[in-house]
Amino acid sequence: MAFRNWQQELIDERPPRPSPWPFIIRVAVALVIISGATCCALWAWPGYLLAKPWSRPGPAPESIALMFTGDCRGYIEPCGCTEQRWGGVARLSGLVRQINKPAATLMVDTGDMAAGNLLWQRITLEYYLKALGRLNYAAANLGTSEVTLSAADLRQLAESSPVPLVSANVLDAATGEPLVAPYRKLMIENLRVTLLGVVDPDPRKQLGEGLVVGDIDESIGQRLTELRPHTDLIVLLAACDEERMRRIAIKHPEIDVIIGGRVRQASRQVETVGSCRIVYQANTGQMLGRIDIRIRPDGIPEGASSAMMLLDNDVPEDSAMLELVEQYNGRLAMLNRTEGLASLGVETTPSPAGGNTYVGSRQCKVCHETAHATWQESQHAKAWQSLVERRRDGNPDCISCHVLGFGTGDGFRGIGVAPEKVNVQCESCHTRAGGHVRARRAELDPKIGKMPPVPQKSCENCHDYNHSPEFSYQTYWEKMKHGQDKDNKSD
Ligand code: HEC
Ligand code: HEC
Ligand code: HEC
Ligand code: HEC
Repeated sequence: MAFRNWQQELIDERPPRPSPWPFIIRVAVALVIISGATCCALWAWPGYLLAKPWSRPGPAPESIALMFTGDCRGYIEPCGCTEQRWGGVARLSGLVRQINKPAATLMVDTGDMAAGNLLWQRITLEYYLKALGRLNYAAANLGTSEVTLSAADLRQLAESSPVPLVSANVLDAATGEPLVAPYRKLMIENLRVTLLGVVDPDPRKQLGEGLVVGDIDESIGQRLTELRPHTDLIVLLAACDEERMRRIAIKHPEIDVIIGGRVRQASRQVETVGSCRIVYQANTGQMLGRIDIRIRPDGIPEGASSAMMLLDNDVPEDSAMLELVEQYNGRLAMLNRTEGLASLGVETTPSPAGGNTYVGSRQCKVCHETAHATWQESQHAKAWQSLVERRRDGNPDCISCHVLGFGTGDGFRGIGVAPEKVNVQCESCHTRAGGHVRARRAELDPKIGKMPPVPQKSCENCHDYNHSPEFSYQTYWEKMKHGQDKDNKSD
């Protein structure tokens, strides 16, 4: 206020609030001017929006090492039935820490990481990717088992995965666009590397809902032409067989290295097709492959050598990674204990009609006391405990042979749902005895409810080569024999 007089002091009115309009108008005018100027600038210089060429900021390294795994098929830890305990992420980590590698080293996975698309197999895949993330993997390719996941599941997986998933020919069925990144570009020690992924699906496996797999040549052809001028090393991760890899190499000479999976046998040495170097490996994650590529000062790749390293008992397991595996087993076991196999994605087949269901070994004890005592002493009656001790009591892959009637309405459906169906019980070999028990209790004609004989071959449903390499009927039956064989009585 410029001056005061006594009258004003008496009235003492606050001045009216200033109108906001002048300010709003000024801001609006400024915005119009700024956006106008931006448009003019972009119009005058459209190159501003285009990608800058990717250039090497310094001299290329002398060599680069690409380490690769593949075909893990859910074996994030070794099987555990027999003494041969190879593979697994803990051992992989142990080996990676041990070996000498140049500063320019990249780790990649060629795909077929999952065993399938059931819920628990997707949990396994999540943990596998977590493990690869800890090892700083640069990319993981989608393989034939990953494309059995639905588009929605794959998209979600790609979001949560600490390792970038790549595939140029796994497409959204609705839009035809790639579901995950088609490739990953990265600069390592001044070398410009592009990691591209493709998969040749297995015709025996059904593709996941909402995705299609595009033609390999079409999906990569255009991209390779665009990428070549800006990349020193183009690496294709290919879930394809040997023949297919060779054909890709001939058709697309822009590719420097193809690292493959989906084969029976690992390659012994680097195969060269034109200027492309091809290596591949298999074997449920029991190997770490490596290809070393010499690089000229101008960034052009030269000769290469490869090696396959076995993840056998000599390789120490990394304790931090064992903890991750423990977490994974804990999560599965928790689901098994609370909601059962259904919450792990294992479908249950219905109980048979007519009441001839699994009744459990306890029911047999009254009438077959000796057979029951023999069984109780045998390893079969302790098969569940073996899984608990190994903390594998949530893994459906292990549970199936260590319980009675896995995944059937009247058999094992989860610890919380059917706790009495654990262990290998009488009916695991003799088949369902509900009808037999009822008939014998009612003292019906012995022909009614007679149990079928146990074929010797049936032992091998569980005692297969992988889980019981020493199995022979004669020696094994000797350890558990009962019934007439045992003491000439019918029990
Ligand atoms: C109420 C008594 C009773 C119960 C309970 C019972 N069984 Fe039997 N079981 C018999 C009798 C009796 C025979 C005939 C024995 C004979 O022929 O000497 C028999 C025979 C068998 C045989 C030989 C094949 C046959 O049918 O003659 C098998 C195998 C068998 N039982 C398995 C089982 C199993 C497994 C259980 C438990 C799920 C079971 N039994 C429960 C009474 C019983
Ligand atoms: C449902 C699956 C299953 C079937 C069928 C089966 N087994 Fe087994 N068997 C097992 C499992 C699991 C173990 C290991 C239990 C443990 O140690 O935890 C085992 C262990 C054994 C052992 C103990 C081995 C040892 O060295 O202590 C013998 C013996 C044996 N089985 C014999 C047989 C014979 C003989 C048959 C066929 C008549 C048979 N089994 C059928 C699952 C099965
Ligand atoms: C195909 C059926 C089958 C599957 C699947 C299976 N097992 Fe077994 N397991 C067996 C049989 C059979 C034996 C008995 C082997 C023997 O003694 O010859 C056994 C034995 C064992 C033993 C006792 C071996 C010992 O040395 O004490 C353990 C522990 C075990 N299995 C854990 C597992 C785990 C963990 C898994 C999952 C990764 C698994 N099993 C999956 C059939 C199976
Ligand atoms: C690992 C597989 C296995 C398990 C577990 C098992 N049996 Fe047997 N059992 C056999 C085989 C094999 C025979 C001999 C071949 C046959 O008679 O079918 C047999 C024979 C018998 C017989 C005599 C059959 C006859 O024709 O006289 C009886 C009774 C019997 N078992 C009852 C039981 C009972 C009760 C249990 C559980 C407490 C049990 N068995 C557990 C495999 C098994």
